[in-house]
Amino acid sequence: MYFHKNLREGLGTMLYIGIDLGTSAVKLLLMDEMGRIHKIVSREYPLYFPNPGWSEQNPADWYRETMAGLKELIADADKERIAGISFGGQMHGLVLLDEKDEVIRPALLWNDGRTFEECDYLNNVIGKDKLSEYTANISFTGFTAPKILWVKNKEPENFARIAKIMLPKDYIAYRLTGVHCTDVSDASGMLIFDVKNRTWSREMCEICSVKEEWLAKVYESYEAVGCVKPEIAKELGIPENTVVAAGAGDNAAAAVGTGTVGDGRCNISLGTSGTIFISSKNFGVDKYNALHSFAHADGTYHLMGCMLSAASCNKWWMDDIIGTRDYAKEQEGITNLGENHVYFLPYLMGERSPHNDPDARGTFVGLTMDNTRADMTQAVLEGVAFALRDSLEVAKSLGIQIDRTKICGGGAKSPLWRRIIANVLNLKVDILESEEGPAFGAAMLAAVAAGEYKSVEEIAAKLVHVVDTVEPEPEIAARYEERYAQFKEIYPALKPVFKIIK
Ligand code: XUL
Repeated sequence: MYFHKNLREGLGTMLYIGIDLGTSAVKLLLMDEMGRIHKIVSREYPLYFPNPGWSEQNPADWYRETMAGLKELIADADKERIAGISFGGQMHGLVLLDEKDEVIRPALLWNDGRTFEECDYLNNVIGKDKLSEYTANISFTGFTAPKILWVKNKEPENFARIAKIMLPKDYIAYRLTGVHCTDVSDASGMLIFDVKNRTWSREMCEICSVKEEWLAKVYESYEAVGCVKPEIAKELGIPENTVVAAGAGDNAAAAVGTGTVGDGRCNISLGTSGTIFISSKNFGVDKYNALHSFAHADGTYHLMGCMLSAASCNKWWMDDIIGTRDYAKEQEGITNLGENHVYFLPYLMGERSPHNDPDARGTFVGLTMDNTRADMTQAVLEGVAFALRDSLEVAKSLGIQIDRTKICGGGAKSPLWRRIIANVLNLKVDILESEEGPAFGAAMLAAVAAGEYKSVEEIAAKLVHVVDTVEPEPEIAARYEERYAQFKEIYPALKPVFKIIK
């Protein structure tokens, strides 16, 4: 029997752990049942780019750093009060295990662009209509199904060894509980999942040569998959009936953590990737298939646009090009919002939404002799905002009306970037007490699984607090309207060039 609130009566406040298995680091958060954050720990692991456009990580690194992070997180806590653990995880990554549960090869990640041939096969030979009918989505290079086909085509010896396939956070859940599980939101990004019916798609599994026995059992994000294994409980010093909830893909977990649940709410995440996430009570498919149609962690659905490089563009520009760690100082002198004539296309890893173009590249356009380093820094921040606007425009064209959004992720810490987002997208941007989107959302899912709250909607209403709102400024928003009209022209003009500069 796993933990239930009533089983631990008399202990006082319960504690919940959220694990956000990100691309640059794992972030772990400890909160109590009232949502008070007791501690946050972050531990980095390497990211490998073994060939241009490839992106890989070792699941063993994730596990080692997660366990070390868990120990650090709860070192001073009353461990008897730890009642639940859950996850938000980088989506789409392919983890392959053999029959001895050994990892077969490094995981192929969400921002890996090697599968363009397999995507071409899926989208154009199988056909986008069929994919959309079976899964509600089409193929993007980062999705899991084309990765499975890539391993089949390019590494048949590895393909022959497969006994289980799983997503990154599910590998950690497997190591902690022994249960081969996944959740509906993360499974949605595999392209072998029937999003509407929240179950595996037999047709897609056949198309991708996926055997039924390789697949995880699917849970709702807030459901318990079991408890930590006795040896894990012992190693961490936590009770054996600590519940482990299925958790969610990082964007759905972030949406929970920012209260983007129920119908018609919006969250923008400025992390390594940049996403615009719109919750919806009803299942719906973007007729252009530019936005992903996925299951949400609260039991409903969502549409999402995902750009592959968001805060990572700024990090690249600051750390690798300008050579500074003082991001705030670089942004200090930027005041001429809407007047910058330098543009930046943020496609440093190719682009997903809405262009679906692994050949797209990062570019500065419009430089003149009078331009300064600050203009270029500003262009990077604006380029990310314009690219998010591209996805918002698709949502608008589907008749979706949004006038405000929450915001989270590392980039959301910058007041300047938040102001640029508010004005470029012409949305009110609600700032939250806690910016810890995915890790906070994951801990909330654990609390629901443990019986502390009845539903994700209930816990979000109680624990998520808006502390400020950045309003669009009409004059600046109008200037950005003109700038956006120009930005929109650049990618189509350069698209043929991106095809030849490989
Ligand atoms: C979403 C996506 C990214 C990753 C980043 O579709 O690919 O947001 O989940 O971790």
